[in-house]
This record gives sequence, structure tokens and C-alpha cells, in this order.
Amino acid sequence: MILDQFELHQSRIFLGNTCYAEALALCDLDRYTKLFFISQEQVWGFHGRVLSDAFAALGYPVTEDQIYFMPDGERFKSLETFGAVQQWLVAQGADRRSLLVVLGGGVVGDLAGFVAATYMRGMPWLYVPTTLLAQQDASIGGKTAVNLPQGKNLVGCFWEPSAVIVDSAVLRTLPRRQLNAGYMEFLKHGMLHGPELYQAALDVPVDSDDWAAQMPVLARGVRVKAEVVRQDPHERNQRRLLNLGHTLAHALESFTEYRQFLHGEAVGIGLLFAAMLAQRLGGQDSWPGLEKAVVSRLPAFDVAAWDQNVLLDLTQRDKKGIGGKIAWIIPRAPGDVVIVDGVARPLLEETLSELVGRLANVVPVVG
Ligand SMILES: NC(=O)c1ccc[n+]([C@@H]2O[C@H](COP(=O)([O-])OP(=O)(O)OC[C@H]3O[C@@H](n4cnc5c(N)ncnc54)[C@H](O)[C@@H]3O)[C@@H](O)[C@H]2O)c1
Ligand SMILES: [Zn+2]
Repeated sequence: MILDQFELHQSRIFLGNTCYAEALALCDLDRYTKLFFISQEQVWGFHGRVLSDAFAALGYPVTEDQIYFMPDGERFKSLETFGAVQQWLVAQGADRRSLLVVLGGGVVGDLAGFVAATYMRGMPWLYVPTTLLAQQDASIGGKTAVNLPQGKNLVGCFWEPSAVIVDSAVLRTLPRRQLNAGYMEFLKHGMLHGPELYQAALDVPVDSDDWAAQMPVLARGVRVKAEVVRQDPHERNQRRLLNLGHTLAHALESFTEYRQFLHGEAVGIGLLFAAMLAQRLGGQDSWPGLEKAVVSRLPAFDVAAWDQNVLLDLTQRDKKGIGGKIAWIIPRAPGDVVIVDGVARPLLEETLSELVGRLANVVPVVG
């Protein structure tokens, strides 16, 4: 059933529980000359059948030669995979009015979106995001990219999908750790939006496995991202608010060489840091329940191994900074989040050391 739907620029976003057939029926599939699919073997194994059955029910049967499987892993979000998919599309006779249907997490989405953006100067695509992170974040806003050996997301462009289908059914097979990581982006949307959605995010049970029941509130999180994108499609100003929690998160990911934390986990820690920084700047704690919501979803790690100076140095390299000063996104209270250009180093040091102290008490240490 479709629970919510809206338009964002040229995209139609559908949100629901087991709603592929219903959503696809609204997508004017007749417009397209042919359909092509890109996914990963495991994800397609879980969810491909339901999706292809929905296409078949509408008169578009799917055969194996229409499906490209890319390998699992961030390292395959590469120019090599990009080239291979492009050549496969040529071999299959795709043209610029074919539709590329994408079933997968943010890795598949970013790569396939960039393929769609550039194949014959741009073809339409339809995205079914299968991780909570991709549903809340990567599927909305049309940012596409591949990585280079020198860094993540260095090559890409904006190319919005024609339609996005956010369906709770895919979350049933997602590993708990991935669910917890994706939750942090949802929590971020709650913090940005206001007290009610923030509280609703806190109310999501840590061990929830009834994602259909959570879909109405998850849908509101998706709308938060969409509204920010609507106001600032090319990340000039407002969209920087979505970077809440990310300055420390990026430093932490880099410090641990992208091996220890999933992106969302680092974001969770970054959200805590940002809230503590806001408290130091504003004098009051506006974020009851935040520490518990984050910490209860983190894996064990050794916070004593963090070199606080190095971490803070790394925050100064965050690419979102403009004119040499790092813009910190400061959550003063739910729905009251501001951008502060440059925060004094001693204040950052005190806050980080307080965070490390608090985490040392609550996070189990890896053995
Ligand atoms: N374009 C954007 O705006 C944007 C925003 C945020 C993140 N990203 C990008 O997204 C990527 C991360 O995305 P991600 O966290 O979804 O990672 P991912 O795509 O690697 O998925 C995580 C893991 O879950 C598996 N998986 C996916 N769906 C599943 C399901 N339903 N059931 C079981 N397993 C499933 C995947 O195979 C993979 O092993 C990064 O490359 C990041 O740069 C892009
Ligand atoms: Zn993020």
C-alpha cells in the first residue's frame, strides 16, 4: 500500500509497504522503449522477484538479459564498474529513452545514477533504495557519483531519478548493523525538523523489526531531506544543514581509514558531538534522549584509541568548508539548527574530550 507520495522537481517519490505494483502503475512505463535493471546478486535474490513480478503484472515481463549485477562493496563504486555497465547497456541495445531500474543501497544507486546521467547524455532512471540509509538520504536529491583511488565521490553529477519507490519490505532482510547506521540519518532529519519528529525518532525501538509500522514516521524523515533539497537543489546554502553531524563523522571515518565505522555510525557520533557543541555555545541541553538513541545503536569500539588532536585536525579539512573556515552545523534545539563559520579550537577540544569521556563510560570496548 502507498502511504505517501510527493513530487520533487522532476521526480515522483512513493513511500509505502509492499507497494511496487501500485507505484509502478503510476509511472507511465509506456513512455520507455525498453527496461534495464541494475542490482547486486544478493539484494536481487531477496527482492528482485517481487519487483520483477510487479513489472510483469503490468505487462513488462523481465528476463535475465535485462539485469546487470554489480559486485557488493564501496570499492566497486568505481570508473571500472561505470564503464562496464555502460558497455553492457550498449550491447543490450539501450537507447536514451530506455529506463534504468535500480534496486540496491547507496552504492548501487550512486553508481547507476551516474551511469543514467551520462549514458547517451542522459537516460531516465527509477530507484528502489534497499537500505535505510539510501531511503533516507541517497535516493533523494539526485546526487550521483563514483569514487577515485584518491577519494570518495570525486566524480559525479546531479541527475534526479524519474521515480523513487521507498518500500519498507526491503528492510526486513537488511542486517541490524545497517539498519542502525541508516537510522542515524533519519534521526538527523528529526533533529533538523523539530520537536515532534525528533521525539518520534527517539521512539523507534532499537530492536524494531516491524518496519511497515514505522513507515509513516520514516516517510516524514524522507520528506525532510526532500524539502531541504527543494529549497537548495545544488547545495549552495540550505542544503548544508544536512551536513549536521558530518564534520566529525568524516574526520572519524578518515581517522579509522573507513574500516571501523559504517558511515551512519560515524554520523551518530557526530550528532552527539554537534549537540554537545551546541550546548557549550548556548548553555543548555536541548537534546534529552539523544545519547541513548545513538549509543544503543553503536557497535563496540575503543574510544581510548582516538587521537583527539588528529581528529580535530581532520575536521579542518572537511570539504564543505568555504574560505578556509569550517562551517559547523550547530543544533541549538529541535528544528533550530544554524551554520556557524568557524568555532574556536579550544572549545572544540573541550567538547571532544567530554565526548570521549562520555563514550568511554557507555560504549563497550572491543576485546
Ligand atoms: N547520493 C547521495 O546523496 C548519497 C547520500 C548518502 C550516501 N551516499 C552513498 O551511499 C553509499 C552507502 O550506501 P549504503 O549504506 O546503502 O551501502 P551499500 O549500498 O553498500 O549497502 C550496504 C550493504 O547492505 C547490502 N544490502 C542492501 N540492501 C539490502 C537489503 N535490503 N537486504 C540485505 N542486504 C542489503 C548491500 O549489498 C551492502 O552489502 C556510499 O557510497 C555513499 O557515498 C550517497
Ligand atoms: Zn550521511
